[in-house]
Amino acid sequence: MRRSLVIGNWKMHGTRTSNRELITQIQTGLNEGQNCDVAVCVPFTAIPDASATVANSTLRLGAQNVANAEQGAYTGEVSVGMLSEYDCQYALVGHSERRQIYRETDELVAERYEYAIKGGITPVLCIGETDEEREQGKTFAVIDEQLSAVINHCGIDSLSKAVIAYEPVWAIGTGKTATPDQAQEVHAYIRNQIAAQNADIAEKLIILYGGSVKPENAAELFGRDDIDGGLIGGASLQADSFLAIINAA
Ligand code: 13P
Repeated sequence: MRRSLVIGNWKMHGTRTSNRELITQIQTGLNEGQNCDVAVCVPFTAIPDASATVANSTLRLGAQNVANAEQGAYTGEVSVGMLSEYDCQYALVGHSERRQIYRETDELVAERYEYAIKGGITPVLCIGETDEEREQGKTFAVIDEQLSAVINHCGIDSLSKAVIAYEPVWAIGTGKTATPDQAQEVHAYIRNQIAAQNADIAEKLIILYGGSVKPENAAELFGRDDIDGGLIGGASLQADSFLAIINAA
């Protein structure tokens, strides 16, 4: 049985004060016996405060990216060792905003994924097709390409230390959620592709759905066989809606 996971991706939002308030509200709103794991991927500058707040609680901390090197002349990057000092347990890699706005390639994403794993942080590998790619019937080809970049670079066994987030680009921040059938179809495809190489890893792998998840649609999405939770953008910026999504998991 896979344990559900809900991760909030705060992206580039908030102030020091508002982010402190938000994490405290989320932490106090979590039920003692909540039956899913919960994490928040906060902006880098919010990590120190968040780390102190979540210490000794069930709420976990993550970053929104991680460097493809241990240390050195990499201006603007943050290494896995730096994140570990603040007890980050997760790092997003390959978010579509990184791929599209910052032109991160499959190769670079695979390197970031590699360094997260080597440093003991769970990479949350984000994959998904654009609107145009879906219309052209290329959804599975895009998934294959993004997934195989990582498998070729780090091996199939690395997926026992990773989480995958299927985030169709057309559903991110658009209010246009994938239907539970559409999401389940791709999640099952991802799991089957991995199962063809290692059935045990595929069975245990957590695959999250992301893209306009809201309290109103979370339960139905999370109820599908291969959807193990969510990666939540906008709705994770309000404690009420994020907690409602957690309760749906
Ligand atoms: P939204 O939930 O705002 O659509 O964002 C999804 C996302 O990009 C999470 O990483």
